[in-house]
Amino acid sequence: MTTQPPTVVMSRTSSTDVSDYPFQKPHFLSVHDLNEATARSLINRASDYANAIRDNVPIEPTLVGKHVVNLFFENSTRTLASFDMATQRLGGRVTNLPMETSSVKKGESLVDTLKTIDAMRPDVIVIRHGSAGAADIAAKTVDAHVINAGDGAREHPTQALLDAVTVTRTFGDVSGLTITICGDIKHSRVARSNIALLSMLGADVRLCAPPTLLPDDIRDQGLGVFTNLADALPGSDVIMALRVQTERMDHSVIPSTREYHQQYGLTLDRLAVLAPKAKIMHPGPMNRGVEIDGNVADHPTKSLILDQVENGVAARMAVLHALISQDGHQT
Ligand code: CP
Repeated sequence: MTTQPPTVVMSRTSSTDVSDYPFQKPHFLSVHDLNEATARSLINRASDYANAIRDNVPIEPTLVGKHVVNLFFENSTRTLASFDMATQRLGGRVTNLPMETSSVKKGESLVDTLKTIDAMRPDVIVIRHGSAGAADIAAKTVDAHVINAGDGAREHPTQALLDAVTVTRTFGDVSGLTITICGDIKHSRVARSNIALLSMLGADVRLCAPPTLLPDDIRDQGLGVFTNLADALPGSDVIMALRVQTERMDHSVIPSTREYHQQYGLTLDRLAVLAPKAKIMHPGPMNRGVEIDGNVADHPTKSLILDQVENGVAARMAVLHALISQDGHQT
């Protein structure tokens, strides 16, 4: 008789605790679907998963018999691969839909595509779309759970969650840290989700960008807003660089990528003012030599960029587990 290895049972508390059912709704569309307690419960679970993956410890397969469809209308490397791996690590099945070869190219509407996929009875649809609000439309259209994997310039909630997991695993907590988000904030769904989640978790969030890459209403939000990197960096524990999103901007907002790098690029020289323990993050994909230099992105002690990628699988496992396990336990 063979002995089965023990599986890690990840529940930290009783079965009716917020830790087990952090979502009030059957979907995860926005970081505003969370509160501080539910965000922390997801971060804790994700961190447990990350430890288990690192240590090669078997994980309780809570998605056995469940099917996840990744419906990506925009390109992705990190998010798509990590939802795929997260599903498989939890024992679920996954279908990745290459929308560039789908019937969308023949003029099928988003709603018709969603109804078609939902008729195949998946348990979860993970959607990335170029239009703000697409994930909300999906949630209103389908019976499956919906996870927003990025909708236009609006939200990317699982990216913010994995970033919070990464900061928590590095510093012990998000609360009390000064986190400076630097770059194309106006066009960034990552910035929008991170501003809300990191602030909810007690960080002092600063923003730094050229005036043309700041949202019009940003000064009403009570955040530190800087247009000069030299003013924003001192005292920062984390610098989160954002990609210059040339596909979402016209050419009037920055004179050139070379000039952008001269004024806002993260270089080792510029980062010398930071405390030795300060860290660099970037959601990817990166424009090396534009918003970040290669020797900063690859820095062996300062860069958390590959930790973010690693924690992305664990964070998405926590979200998938939470949505599936609340079936039948809706509040
Ligand atoms: N950070 C992020 O969303 O990366 P991908 O576009 O590769 O998924």
